[in-house]
Amino acid sequence: MRYDCPWGHPLIHLEVVDSTQEEARRLYKRGMLGDGTVIWAEEQISGRGRHGRRWVSQRGKGLWFTVAFKPRLPSARLQLLCISASLGILDVLRGLGLRASIKWPNDILVSGRKICGILVEGLFKGEVLDFCLLGVGINLKSVSDIIPCATSVEEELGYPIDSEDLLRSVLHSVHHRVRELEENPEAVLSEYKSNCMVLGRKISFKRGEDYVWGDAIDINPDGNLIIMLDEKICVLNSEIIEEVR
Ligand code: BTN
Repeated sequence: MRYDCPWGHPLIHLEVVDSTQEEARRLYKRGMLGDGTVIWAEEQISGRGRHGRRWVSQRGKGLWFTVAFKPRLPSARLQLLCISASLGILDVLRGLGLRASIKWPNDILVSGRKICGILVEGLFKGEVLDFCLLGVGINLKSVSDIIPCATSVEEELGYPIDSEDLLRSVLHSVHHRVRELEENPEAVLSEYKSNCMVLGRKISFKRGEDYVWGDAIDINPDGNLIIMLDEKICVLNSEIIEEVR
């Protein structure tokens, strides 16, 4: 792919890899990870989702990539990078005509089904956040034989789209939102809130061995979800929301 990458670094395009996140970690360990490196794979053998879940990443089925960059934010605000990346991807999917929304913290849904997942991981030098690995998986073709609750760009649009074009748009859009976050986090958060489908709804999540229900009421300045649970305010950091009513 030959184009001006907004992240300012060449793009690494791999046929197959275990996980683009792992590839970024390997480059980092060897001192070869440049600020703004994009690693894009056609297929991932061990694609990772949040909370150690598997992420199905078959060849030809989606866009799987990691952007590795040096964040200009303290590590406590890593969650805000998920938030700005979600908005960047939402902008692109809506630009294609899809009625997409965000399920906190960083799942993108269309027709109530997941079309995109984002995994943000930090690489630390001691206590200091050195790199952010922003991993994005967008389903382009149907994966509903394996994951019934998922959808894809092609299923929703009714026609296929070029993965390179989509990658280019997403990289530009996410880059723009990350820079906006550094300049005006309040504006990004407020836009995120108005597109976050869980606010004002009942949500369930796993707590210990049980699933509990609470009311999603707000998102705090660090990007955490504030819920009302058993008449008490409770803060969720990165829990997976199982159901929304
Ligand atoms: C989630 O919704 O749980 C996050 C999914 C993130 C998947 C992407 S695909 C590219 C990158 N490499 C990985 O192994 N995972 C992320």
